[in-house]
Amino acid sequence: METPVYRYNLRLLEETLATAQTEANRYNYTLHYAVKANNNSTILETIAKRGFGADCVSGNEITAAINAGFAPLSIVFAGVGKTESEIELAISIGIACIHVESIEELQLINRISARLEKTATIALRLNPNLDAGTHQHITTGTSRNKFGLSNRELIQAVDTLPSLQWVKFIGFHFHIGSQILDLKKFVQLAHYANITVRHYAQLNISYLNLGGGLGIDYDNPSDSPIPNFAEYFLAFYRNLRISRNISIHFEPGRSLVGQCGDLLTKVLYVKQSDERKFAVVDAGMNNLIRPALYQAKHKIEVVDTRSLAVDLYDVVGPICESTDTFASNIELPALKQGDILAIHSAGAYGESMSSRYNLRDGTESIFVDEANLTLANP
Ligand code: LLP
Repeated sequence: METPVYRYNLRLLEETLATAQTEANRYNYTLHYAVKANNNSTILETIAKRGFGADCVSGNEITAAINAGFAPLSIVFAGVGKTESEIELAISIGIACIHVESIEELQLINRISARLEKTATIALRLNPNLDAGTHQHITTGTSRNKFGLSNRELIQAVDTLPSLQWVKFIGFHFHIGSQILDLKKFVQLAHYANITVRHYAQLNISYLNLGGGLGIDYDNPSDSPIPNFAEYFLAFYRNLRISRNISIHFEPGRSLVGQCGDLLTKVLYVKQSDERKFAVVDAGMNNLIRPALYQAKHKIEVVDTRSLAVDLYDVVGPICESTDTFASNIELPALKQGDILAIHSAGAYGESMSSRYNLRDGTESIFVDEANLTLANP
């Protein structure tokens, strides 16, 4: 087998999508897949076919979503640094909503819409100053983060709206962070959204987007391959107190695709320093950067091993950086050259964050469609 390669289990993806949709449909919630989590075209097409909308953060993501079959009117667009040409693309193809993150962006959107003579539908992204309690690098909703409008900016934006002829304001957008497993954070977000919507009742709000953020089980992926969407949506349903005329939207990314992908990599060399035993593998931080960037832990298993002995290893890649380490001091069956390792839960923010650092080859992917995909059966 050619390695390194992302192996996606399309059966698990379909089951995950179906579960998320069933649970969201109970409450009439609309789902926009966060394309940034994985923009592989087969993954995008699978999600588009299921009728999901898309959440994009760049013009290229919008184009990829359209090419994969997402309807323009199902696409929302966020990001603190949208360029003029990206805004122009969004308005001209008529996406559902632009999530505005600054007053200057709001004014630019109005100018571009006037030039195109096409009204832009917008929501204001608010920064609720709510700490999601996750890794600091993936927290987005506190006032130390660059995302969304502060309360003061919100007041200013609302004051500005009547003068913006080409902008149609429909509601609010929030996203407090990622890999959130403590549902209380979402309850707090629901309370914050209730207060905001009540406070701005006179604005005739018809849209509320509560972002993404539901976490997955990196420790035991095979025990919980599908996140608990039932509890997640129920937490919002129980706590949101807003009019039935307001449509409620979410932007799940990781929770839809995270467990569907493994990064398969081959052991190139086993070597022993005075302190550690290293398994040098052929995947590097250029293929999967999460461990290097966020100290993220992905479960690693040996595919099809016959070894009964175990040993402690640092699993490291070939890149010229010490942070190019997938795991430190983990117990694995005794490894030898050529063994294949599966780095699990790599379907989200794996391939999409990969690079060609050290001028390594681009990341490849394969697709399997199997129930109960076992490790012994790559
Ligand atoms: N909506 C917005 C506005 C977002 O910024 C994000 C993620 C999502 C939705 C989707 O969040 P999710 O459901 O996937 O948690 N690279 C990091 C995660 C960065 C998340 C960025 N924003 C990681 O590998 O953990």
